[in-house]
Amino acid sequence: MIEPNESLQFTDLGFEAELSLKRILPRVLSVWSEDEVHDLDVQRFVRRLEQHWPTLFRLLFELYGHRYDFFYHLEEIAKTAARSWKNRSAPLKNLDEQRIHEPDWFQSERVVGGALYVDLFSENLGKLREHIGYFKELGLTYLHLMPLFAVRPGDNDGGYAISNYRSIDPRLGTIDDLCRLADDLREAGISLVLDFVFNHTSDDHIWAKQAQSGNKEYQQFYYIFPDRTIPDQYERTLREIFPTVRRGNFTWQDGMEQWVWTTFNSFQWDLNYQNPSVFRSMLEEMLFIANTGVDILRLDAVAFIWKQMGTSCENLPQAHTIIRAYNELARIAAPGLVFKSEAIVHPDDVVKYIGADQCQISYNPTLMALLWESLATRETKLLFKSLTHRHQLPQRTSWVNYLRCHDDIGWTFDDQDAAEIGINGYDHRQFLNEFYTGQFANSFARGVPFQHNPQTGDMRISGTLASLAGLEQALLAGDRDLIELAIRRITLLQGIILSVGGIPLLYLGEEWGLLNDYDFVKDPAKAGDTRWVHRPRMKWEYLQELDDHHNGNGGSIRTRLFTTVKRMIAMRKESAALAGQKMELINLRNPHVLAYVRMNDSARMVVLANFSEEPQEISGNQIRTAGFGHFFEDVLEGSELNTSADISLSPYQIRWLNRV
Ligand code: GLC
Ligand code: GLC
Repeated sequence: MIEPNESLQFTDLGFEAELSLKRILPRVLSVWSEDEVHDLDVQRFVRRLEQHWPTLFRLLFELYGHRYDFFYHLEEIAKTAARSWKNRSAPLKNLDEQRIHEPDWFQSERVVGGALYVDLFSENLGKLREHIGYFKELGLTYLHLMPLFAVRPGDNDGGYAISNYRSIDPRLGTIDDLCRLADDLREAGISLVLDFVFNHTSDDHIWAKQAQSGNKEYQQFYYIFPDRTIPDQYERTLREIFPTVRRGNFTWQDGMEQWVWTTFNSFQWDLNYQNPSVFRSMLEEMLFIANTGVDILRLDAVAFIWKQMGTSCENLPQAHTIIRAYNELARIAAPGLVFKSEAIVHPDDVVKYIGADQCQISYNPTLMALLWESLATRETKLLFKSLTHRHQLPQRTSWVNYLRCHDDIGWTFDDQDAAEIGINGYDHRQFLNEFYTGQFANSFARGVPFQHNPQTGDMRISGTLASLAGLEQALLAGDRDLIELAIRRITLLQGIILSVGGIPLLYLGEEWGLLNDYDFVKDPAKAGDTRWVHRPRMKWEYLQELDDHHNGNGGSIRTRLFTTVKRMIAMRKESAALAGQKMELINLRNPHVLAYVRMNDSARMVVLANFSEEPQEISGNQIRTAGFGHFFEDVLEGSELNTSADISLSPYQIRWLNRV
C-alpha cells in the first residue's frame, strides 16, 4: 500500500490547490446553465469555494492524494457542491447568510432541544405538524427527529439501517411532507435536526444490492472479504459494539458468499471511506438532506468511519479528516448547516470531534453518565473532577447536554479521573450496572441490561429517565415519599442540563415522566434490543390531564413534572448568564452538593444541586464570594436568600441563584 504523500510530494500544496481550482472552476460552473442561477448566487458560491478551497484541497489530498484518479474525484466533489447549492431554496439561502454572520447562534440561552421518533410521537410527519404548538408550549427551539428515511423491512435498528437517503419511510410520509414540516418549524422558530447515518447503509441499499449482484465498483463501497484471513487479522484489535447480536464485527453474506464488515447489526454494512467514490456519494446524500431544510445534522457513529489494520478502528485521525472535509463542503454548499457529533466514546476522544472546523456541537456523554453516577452514589466528586477539566470547549462550539436519548447509557468516564479520587473504574462500572438494573440493595432504579458481554463483563443500561430515577419503583410500591423523591431527582437532573452550559436536550416523553415500556418484546423486530424499553409511544391523553389541571382539578405526577420542566425552560430563556459555556465550579467541600457559577458578559448565576435525600447546609459566605453579592433570588423557588446566614437545600433540591 502506498502511503498518502509518498507517491506525490508537493512542496507547495497551496500553489497546487490554486492551480487545480483554476483548472476545475470553469467545469464546475458549467453544471449550471447561466440563465438558471442568479449572478449573486454564483458570486457567493465562487467566493466561498475560493475561501474554503485551500483547506478542502489539503484535506482531500491527505485522504486520496495517492490515488491515480485524485483529480477526477476532486472535480466531481466540487461539482456536487455546485449542484447542491443550486438546488438550495431561497429561504435556506437567506438563513445561510444570517448564520455566516452569526455562527454561534446555537450558544444562546434561548436554544432548548427535544428529540423524538415520528411514528411513536405522532404516527407520521403530517400529524407532527399539528403538534408544533406542543413544542412551542414546552419552549423547544430545536427538534431532532429520529431517522425517518426509507429502511429495510423488519428490524431496521430504529431507522439507522437506511435503504434510501432520498425517500422517507412511506409509513411516515414523503420528502414533500418533510420539507413542509421544515418550513413550518422554521416559521415557529424551531431548528430541525436530522441524522446523517454515514458510517453504514442498510444491506438493501442500492449500493449493497449492486455489490451483492457482483458489481465490483459497488463491492468497493464496503469492506468485503472472501474468507476469514483479513477479518481475523482486524478482529484482534476490534471492540464488539453489539456482542449479543453477533460475535465479532463481520457477517457472512450467503448470496455473495463473502464476509462483510458490520460494526453494528448484521444488516448494517460499514462504508469504505478509503474509496473516494464513497466520500463523494455520501456528500451528495448529505447535501440532499441538508437542502430539505435541516439546520443541524447529527453525524451518527462518527468514531467508526475509518478503519486501519492493527488499530481499534475507532477515532482514527482520518475520521477527523473526513469530517473536516465534509465541514468545508458544508461551508461552501450549505453554509448555515451545523454538525453535531455522536461520539459515545472515551471523554478524551469525544472532544477531538468538536471544533468550528469539525462538529460545532456534540453530545456530552461524559456529563450524562456522571450525572447518573452521582445520583446512584449521592456523591458528586467524580462529576466535579471530570467537570474541572472537561467542560470547557473551543470557541464557537457547544455541548449538547442530555439525560436520556434513544440509546443506552454507557459508563464512559475516564479511569484516571476515577483513580485520582480513589475509585476503581472497573469495579465502579460493575456497581453502576447493578445499581441501575435494580440489583443493588436499596436501589431506586429500574433499568434493564443492554449488550451484556459475559467475557469482558461489559454492560450498558436501558431505561427511561423516570424509571431510572425511581418513579417506576415508587409507583409500584404506592409510596408517596418515594414518589416525591423520584420527582425531585428528575427535576434535579433537568435543572442541571438546563443550566450547566451548552444546549439542553430533552428526550421527549421525559417531560411527562414516561416509564419503561416492556411490551417491546411482543414485536419480533424489537425483542432483541432492550433499547426499545425506553422508546415508548407518546400518550396524548396526558395532555388532557394537563387541561384538567388548568381547570383546577388538582395535579397529577405527570402534570407536576411537565409544568416544572416547562417553567425551568422558561427561566433558562430569561437568564442571560446561561448563554454559552462558561462555568466555574465552586468547591464547597460538601460531598453531596454540586455547585457552580455560570457567567456570560456581566450576568452571573450560582447553581446549587443536592444529590442526596438528606437536607444540606451551605455556607452563605461561600455563595457571597462566588456570586459577588449579599442577596440572591432563587429563580426556581421564587424566594430571596440572605448570605449572612447558611443556605439550606432540601432533599435533591436544585437552586438557581441570581444576584439581587
Ligand atoms: C448510533 C445510533 C444508534 C445506532 C448506531 C448504529 O449510535 O445512535 O441508535 O444503533 O448508531 O447506527
Ligand atoms: C454507539 C456507541 C455505543 C452506543 C451504540 C448504540 O456508537 O459506541 O456505546 O450506545 O453505538 O448502542
